[in-house]
Amino acid sequence: SAAPVKVAVTGAAGQICYSLLFRIASGALLGPDQPVELRLLEITPALKALEGVVMELDDCAFPTLAGVQIGDDPEKVFDGVNLAMLVGARPRTAGMERGDLLSANGAIFTAQGKALNKVAASDVKVLVTGNPANTNALIAMTNAPDIPKERFNALTRLDHNRAIAQLAAKLGVTVSEIKKMTIWGNHSSTQYPDLFHCEVNGENAAAKVNDQAWIENDFIPTVAKRGAAIIAARGSSSAASAANATIEHMRDWVLGSPEGDWVSMAVPSDGSYGVTEGIISSFPCTTAGGEYSIVQGLDLDDFSQARIAASVAELEEERDAVKELGLI
Ligand code: NAI
Repeated sequence: SAAPVKVAVTGAAGQICYSLLFRIASGALLGPDQPVELRLLEITPALKALEGVVMELDDCAFPTLAGVQIGDDPEKVFDGVNLAMLVGARPRTAGMERGDLLSANGAIFTAQGKALNKVAASDVKVLVTGNPANTNALIAMTNAPDIPKERFNALTRLDHNRAIAQLAAKLGVTVSEIKKMTIWGNHSSTQYPDLFHCEVNGENAAAKVNDQAWIENDFIPTVAKRGAAIIAARGSSSAASAANATIEHMRDWVLGSPEGDWVSMAVPSDGSYGVTEGIISSFPCTTAGGEYSIVQGLDLDDFSQARIAASVAELEEERDAVKELGLI
């Protein structure tokens, strides 16, 4: 059988990983014929809890799980890894200023970027889920100069899936009838979920909705603030859906996106659509052969251009703040 793919996951004792690890191990990431070896990184005080999670992984007796290693040293855990899912991050706690949050996470993602640069496999792909995801990915990318920039992505697939779910509910269609959804910009409340290029059974979604007020005042804010709505309802942030999106992004990146559709991925901008080069911003992307391409040639009207520009301005501010802190 195939040699195991080594998959690193950080924040492995946290809530997202309590869904994510079991799905990776069960074959949901790379299929039932591809064994995986898990490399799990946590901070020292969480290693005991992580040992309990590993006991549960053992108790699933997954045929696709070839091995599990845990640790608190990124240079050991990332050694030879082919895929890295960077989920662990410092959450914002009471009294913490934005600068404190950026420096706490900056320390994590500079160290992890350097470790990946030093020890990861030459084909490594890195997906950042931990927030602020786009800027954390920028920090890791900048601190890993020997890894091609295109190997660093951030997660906006959850926003993409949320947008599909909201539109399906509005139009009374199934999610499979919706194609070509796009999230542009930052994984934050400035993100722009775009219905103007989206299709429902081949028809333009915005035209089918035919209600600009709903798009502006209902759809966009509902998608952008869904994370906060889940915290308000559940008492903790989205975990199973974030794990699902993390799997889907990485699976499509490795195995290819579906024919006739595209996905949203936050990737280093090459300047497409006027998005500042170098920042990690969400675009419509197709994937094949383990590489993504930004979908080209979409017409953006003034409304869409203004929304994208606002989110890009926020990403530039975040970039400037971490630059000032000496993290990139
Ligand atoms: P959590 O707090 O339950 O788990 C985070 C884990 O990361 C903790 O176990 C912690 O010990 C660990 N950790 C902290 N620093 C670490 C380091 N240096 N190395 C390794 N592990 C470290 O958080 P949860 O709910 O699992 O969320 C994780 C992150 O994902 C958060 O930043 C959250 O905001 C973000 N998120 C992103 C989404 C997206 O769509 N991009 C959606 C939902 C959550």
